[in-house]
Amino acid sequence: MTTLAVTFLDVSNGLKNNHDKTQSQANRTDDPSMNQPLSIPVSNSKPMPAIGLGYWKVDPTEAAALTVEALKAGYRHLDCASDYGNESSVGAGIAAALAQGVCNREDLWVTSKLWNTFHRPEHVRSALLRSLRDLRVDYLDLYLIHFPISLKHVPIETRYPAGWFFEPSAMSPKMVPDAVPIRETWQAMEELVDAGLVRSIGVSNFGTSLIRDLLSQCRIRPSVLQVESHPYLVQSKLLRYCSEESIACTAFSPLGAPSYIPIGMATEMDSVLNHSLILSLAKNYDKTPAQIVLRWGVQRGTAIVPKTSKLHRLRENLDLAGFELTSQEMESIDSLDKNQRFNDPGVFCEKAFGCYFPIYE
Ligand SMILES: NC(=O)c1ccc[n+]([C@@H]2O[C@H](COP(=O)([O-])OP(=O)(O)OC[C@H]3O[C@@H](n4cnc5c(N)ncnc54)[C@H](OP(=O)(O)O)[C@@H]3O)[C@@H](O)[C@H]2O)c1
Repeated sequence: MTTLAVTFLDVSNGLKNNHDKTQSQANRTDDPSMNQPLSIPVSNSKPMPAIGLGYWKVDPTEAAALTVEALKAGYRHLDCASDYGNESSVGAGIAAALAQGVCNREDLWVTSKLWNTFHRPEHVRSALLRSLRDLRVDYLDLYLIHFPISLKHVPIETRYPAGWFFEPSAMSPKMVPDAVPIRETWQAMEELVDAGLVRSIGVSNFGTSLIRDLLSQCRIRPSVLQVESHPYLVQSKLLRYCSEESIACTAFSPLGAPSYIPIGMATEMDSVLNHSLILSLAKNYDKTPAQIVLRWGVQRGTAIVPKTSKLHRLRENLDLAGFELTSQEMESIDSLDKNQRFNDPGVFCEKAFGCYFPIYE
């Protein structure tokens, strides 16, 4: 990764320009600032806690209890989406934790995402209101366009969340694109900020060309880009571009393959957690392989949103502040890059939803 990219990584515990640190400066666990919660600066907003809990594939029957436990463990950033089908359960957990005095709403960073079937401007507000109702909050800290993919609208009363198929019960169900200019969706997102319903707006799964185009015509700039990133998909150019445009980045699937193995989109062989470099760093630091990979993620200045449904991993994934990788170690992990993307609509839409829909090419 380039130094420029890291300069933006103004992580508030003083990790700025960590690539320039020497071996002796790094890995200081005696420095009290090392144990402060990590956060990422976001334009025109409070900082975003650097470690969030991801909710994709969290069972709705478990999401409420998991949310309470996560907030008790110290999570303050929740990465939700209407498409995950568990927002009402997450909302029950948020409400329970607030009622128990675990934290205040203002301490939380709650993200949700506009699903593909709500891109027409007249549907954006109703999608957001449904997420607010389910999450039991008055406002979101961040609302993202989930994908640069517009699908034919499915009314909330017909099916929610709508998923990818237009008509799942059809003889041969298919996803049905709907040509909506991103500018029109974005204007409706801007109106949510004007109305005080969301604090910041951003995009997910966008590349530099789409962001550049959006920046050329927006009234309110995107504050955050959420994209897949892990040591096998380092995304240094995209992150550097965002850095130069003061757009904060959140890495999704920060552990790489594990999320995709159970759904047949990756194998154990694809997991960076089994890589000899990660295993040896884990041994040296007395940390788990996941902690090494996640620490690399926050130390390079991205927020990360690891998902787990396991209580012991909730704590493990949050416990990243007490050690620091050296600049050489950061660069060694950067060099594992294989540009290996697990979450690619150009692949999974055709296989699973009968529609070839590349977005990164
Ligand atoms: N914007 C988008 O389009 C998009 C796309 C994908 C994901 N996301 C967001 O990013 C979040 C994270 O991505 P993800 O869920 O795909 O992947 P991830 O967080 O990188 O990995 C989750 C997988 O790793 C396992 N895991 C968690 N902690 C572990 C640890 N310490 N050691 C070993 N394994 C561990 C989990 O299993 P257990 O649950 O059994 O622990 C799960 O199988 C999502 O939940 C979602 O919020 C956004």
